[in-house]
Amino acid sequence: MPDAYILGIESSCDETAAAVVRSGEELISNVVASQIALHQAYGGVVPELASREHLRAIVPVVRQALAEAKQTYQSVDAIAVTQGPGLAGALLVGISYAKAIAFALDKPLIAVNHLEGHIHAVLLEERQKGNHEVQFPVLALVVSGGHTHLYLAAQKGQGWTYENIGHTRDDAAGEAFDKVAKLLGLGYPGGPIIDRLAAHGDPMAVKFPPAQIKHRDRREQETVKVRSGDKNDKQGSNDQHENEEDRPRFDFSYSGIKTAVLRYIDVHEMKDSIEKRREVMAKTQKPKLEDFLAKCDKRTLDLVASFQRAMVEDLVGKTLAAARAYDVATLFVTGGVAANNELRKTFEQRTAQEGFPVYFPSRPLSTDNAAMIAAAAYPRFMAKDFAAMDFSAEASLALR
Ligand code: KG4
Ligand code: ZN
Repeated sequence: MPDAYILGIESSCDETAAAVVRSGEELISNVVASQIALHQAYGGVVPELASREHLRAIVPVVRQALAEAKQTYQSVDAIAVTQGPGLAGALLVGISYAKAIAFALDKPLIAVNHLEGHIHAVLLEERQKGNHEVQFPVLALVVSGGHTHLYLAAQKGQGWTYENIGHTRDDAAGEAFDKVAKLLGLGYPGGPIIDRLAAHGDPMAVKFPPAQIKHRDRREQETVKVRSGDKNDKQGSNDQHENEEDRPRFDFSYSGIKTAVLRYIDVHEMKDSIEKRREVMAKTQKPKLEDFLAKCDKRTLDLVASFQRAMVEDLVGKTLAAARAYDVATLFVTGGVAANNELRKTFEQRTAQEGFPVYFPSRPLSTDNAAMIAAAAYPRFMAKDFAAMDFSAEASLALR
């Protein structure tokens, strides 16, 4: 099989990224221009600013990715780009540029689902480590700022198929980290700073009730073993369950915990100290952990640690319940929140007890990047599943 060098382009949210990946198994270059500094002042991503910044960054980022890979526009075999989900205006910048290069150079163009990209970040790095044999069925938790999804992933011929067996009913897990950090005057994005501050608080100090999700047959469903077939079955599909609506679901909900944090702040009269912290942090250039610690009292640190503990317990608990119900052989955990230290540690401990492996991307490939887009494009390249020149951005593109 000849090597295929795929140039990936990603612009779905607040990172302009380009990468070159060889045959879905070797990362040759990976360039990410983050817009975090731009959006920080607003406490979240501002779509119009994101599009403008992508426009500014896209050409230099792609050029750098090609140069670092010692490739040229002419030498790559295909151009892959994120079609969605994401911010429509942001996606369009990457898509228009990818189309322009593919058209001008007469190269195949491949449209990739961003969520599939997060899953293929895991596969890319496992292959790079020499692990080419993933055991099916595979369950993938994609947990980021915009998504909290559980997919059963299966290989069908050259391509992959995905069945969604759970998603968030309201806020995504990363969104909850970001909103709670904002409530506490800790800046944007919230995940990385909560991750680091949580180690300094007592995770048992504040009790958060588990998220309640009303769902038909929920208790009954969770105890049903859905699939009892051979774990090594390469297809990894659950074909015997013709009616997907009857299959157990494992949904998430994170708006309640944010409200609980807000209530805790009110009851314990923390608002004034939060405002002081917000002001100081806004004036501090690139604040370090020590700067935050100097401005956080014990109650705040305990709240942060307890919030993170509750999030991790819920994510791990539901994912493992789904893994048991579908009798999965391998777990992938990917997306920005997969960078979280406590989440990784807890998943590693619990999956070891349950007797199946969990794979995470390295931290640079957990958050948004284009290597994952180039990697996910490879099976489509092999299958000659190319995009027509008139495809457009799909802000709510589903993964199937
Ligand atoms: O995958 P990603 O870069 O973008 C989306 O597709 O959304 O994820 C960004 C999200 C943000 O909500 C950020 O707060 C969260 O991932 N995040 C983390 C950590 N690093 C990033 N959450 C918890 N712990 C972290 N270490
Ligand atoms: Zn993402």
